[in-house]
Amino acid sequence: MLSDAICQAGLLEEPGRSAHYLEMNLHPDVSNEQILAALKTAVQPVSGAFIALCFGSDAWDRLNPSWRPAQLQPFRQLDGKNGYSMPATQSDVYFWIHGEDQGDIMDAVLQVHEAMRDVAVCTLDLNGFKNREARDLTGFVDGTANPKGDKRLDAALIPEGEPGAGGSYVLTQRWQHHLQAFSHLSLHEQEQVIGRTKSGNVELEGDAMPPTSHVSRTDVKIDGVGQKIYRRSTPYGGADEHGLYFLAFACDLKRISIQLERMLGNTDDGFSDYLMKYSTAKTGAYWFMPSRADLETLLAGAA
Ligand code: HEM
Repeated sequence: MLSDAICQAGLLEEPGRSAHYLEMNLHPDVSNEQILAALKTAVQPVSGAFIALCFGSDAWDRLNPSWRPAQLQPFRQLDGKNGYSMPATQSDVYFWIHGEDQGDIMDAVLQVHEAMRDVAVCTLDLNGFKNREARDLTGFVDGTANPKGDKRLDAALIPEGEPGAGGSYVLTQRWQHHLQAFSHLSLHEQEQVIGRTKSGNVELEGDAMPPTSHVSRTDVKIDGVGQKIYRRSTPYGGADEHGLYFLAFACDLKRISIQLERMLGNTDDGFSDYLMKYSTAKTGAYWFMPSRADLETLLAGAA
């Protein structure tokens, strides 16, 4: 049975009001031994912070050539029917650093950065935060339909018997919001874009739910089975540039890719997600987050 002792520490620790995201490319001319030693130092425990480590497809093959999760692949740019696209900015390693206190998070960020200084270059260095009600900067609550309790493990972890069991397929995307345009919509129009009410956070029902709403595009059932993923996104940014750093874990990569294709309108109905009128994907990467044991094994040989 899947239990939270299998996955990397912190996966289920909510709410995670403070976060930091580091995506990095490994230097090609540095030895694997040097990289593994740096990674081992980077993920040493820091009080109050969880440091989860994920790998891009090429980096996993480089550091662990003996086996790979069946569906691991680099993120490729996706183009939609209605002119929208999602760019690919795949890098090699990804550190998801999170907890409740921004000061603790910064201690961990500095530790990771110092450890990785000679073996990698940062491609994304982004601070995330959550308010008390987990409202995105659009003002809508984000994360409500996430699976709860042990169902998070079923949605997020590769099942037993498959290579990489207890690990996760991960998607990260930095979305940039266009809040001025969104704020010019009436409350009713905003709610139709998301598919939930803003203040009460109630899902729209029946004819009130447009097929172009974000919830309609991402709430997917196949043969009666809900294609649930486990989202841990946070808002990010400053006065001028801001949005949502989307972060989701899945037991099966198809659960994520189906949702992206539905958002883009690459479906029989051809509807795209109206949220993309008000938010643009700026980055995109797929990762493998190995289980706790697989990560320990990988790093065990490092100096
Ligand atoms: C600008 C980027 C995004 C924003 C602001 C956003 C915001 C939201 C909000 C407010 C909700 C409704 C509340 C909830 O259940 O969480 C929601 C639901 C959801 N979103 Fe997103 N989201 C974004 C991108 C994405 C992407 C890229 C995916 C898929 C890869 C995704 C997957 C989902 C799923 C699965 C749900 C729950 C649907 C349901 O079962 O009701 N979201 N999102």
